[in-house]
Amino acid sequence: MPSSTTRFFAALFVGLLSSSLTTAQSYDTAHNATSLLGTWSSGSGSVLTGPGFANPVNFTFNYPPTTGISYSFTTETLSDGSDGYFEEAQYRFQGNGSRPTCIIGIVQWQHGTYTLNTDGSITLNPFAADGRQQVQDMCAAKSNVIQQFNQTTLFANWNIYQDTTKGYKLQLYRFDGAPLSPMYQVSTTPNMLPTELLTNTTVNTVIITNASSRRDTSILPMLGVAGTAMLMGLVAVL
Ligand SMILES: *[C@@H]1O[C@H](CO)[C@@H](O)[C@H](O)[C@H]1NC(C)=O
Ligand SMILES: *[C@@H]1O[C@H](CO)[C@@H](O)[C@H](O)[C@H]1NC(C)=O
Ligand SMILES: *[C@@H]1O[C@H](CO)[C@@H](O)[C@H](O)[C@H]1NC(C)=O
Ligand SMILES: *[C@@H]1O[C@H](CO)[C@@H](O)[C@H](O)[C@H]1NC(C)=O
Ligand SMILES: *[C@@H]1O[C@H](CO)[C@@H](O)[C@H](O)[C@H]1NC(C)=O
Ligand SMILES: *[C@@H]1O[C@H](CO)[C@@H](O)[C@H](O)[C@H]1NC(C)=O
Repeated sequence: MPSSTTRFFAALFVGLLSSSLTTAQSYDTAHNATSLLGTWSSGSGSVLTGPGFANPVNFTFNYPPTTGISYSFTTETLSDGSDGYFEEAQYRFQGNGSRPTCIIGIVQWQHGTYTLNTDGSITLNPFAADGRQQVQDMCAAKSNVIQQFNQTTLFANWNIYQDTTKGYKLQLYRFDGAPLSPMYQVSTTPNMLPTELLTNTTVNTVIITNASSRRDTSILPMLGVAGTAMLMGLVAVL
């Protein structure tokens, strides 16, 4: 017969155990109401992965009417140990404290494979050649420069909740724990470009999509020295 003291310590131990477990991520139905499978989009849902956003083959973007982020995930387990494929689309504005009226607009697109890590984090491993990024400085001439973009991404944590009015809601957290904009499931079928390497772009390629726009060199300072040299090379060729 266990004494009340033993029972007390047993209860305390169980309590400590469960509180230490809840600090690690638990993927019970309250935190993972459905699987990641499908397409997720923030805000008004105008930013969506798939063919309408970016075309890495000819280095083009279609700008959505409003900013936002979108992710798609497949769920099959791949031969390399990844959990499946992802696609990422982002259109965001970035302020600049020293030039408050000069907002920078950034569009980014990547795809590749992802892994659900045992600590509850997610790693995105892009197909390095296919990622694309365009940066538009509102205070500079309109830029037609699109760069290759390859950014391995760690989400420290994730949750899927069921919102009573808007349905399934995916919350991703950046590597430092900061939450991204919540995204709602817009489709249970992932809306993605083909989940394979689509281009054979040389690393750090910078493309000017309209060679006649020479004034676009105003974006040069943002590309860094290597990008500038690349761009100069291209301009010289064109
Ligand atoms: C999340 O929930 C879905 C649906 O219940 C399930 O298929 C998936 O394995 C869960 N994921 C984790 C990491 O528990
Ligand atoms: C890029 O490719 C897409 C899809 O094939 C096409 O709709 C678009 O017009 C192309 N853009 C340019 C500038 O070539
Ligand atoms: C902000 O503007 C200043 C002055 O033009 C520039 O030097 C700086 O790099 C900008 N910062 C960002 C984050 O764009
Ligand atoms: C892409 O980024 C990853 C991680 O930053 C890096 O290890 C890899 O070498 C990069 N690939 C290319 C082709 O630049
Ligand atoms: C990519 O380009 C390299 C170098 O030109 C070539 O060796 C390779 O076969 C190409 N790969 C694809 C998938 O086209
Ligand atoms: C390229 O720029 C010229 C001059 O700014 C413009 O008339 C033309 O429509 C542009 N072409 C494309 C494909 O953007």
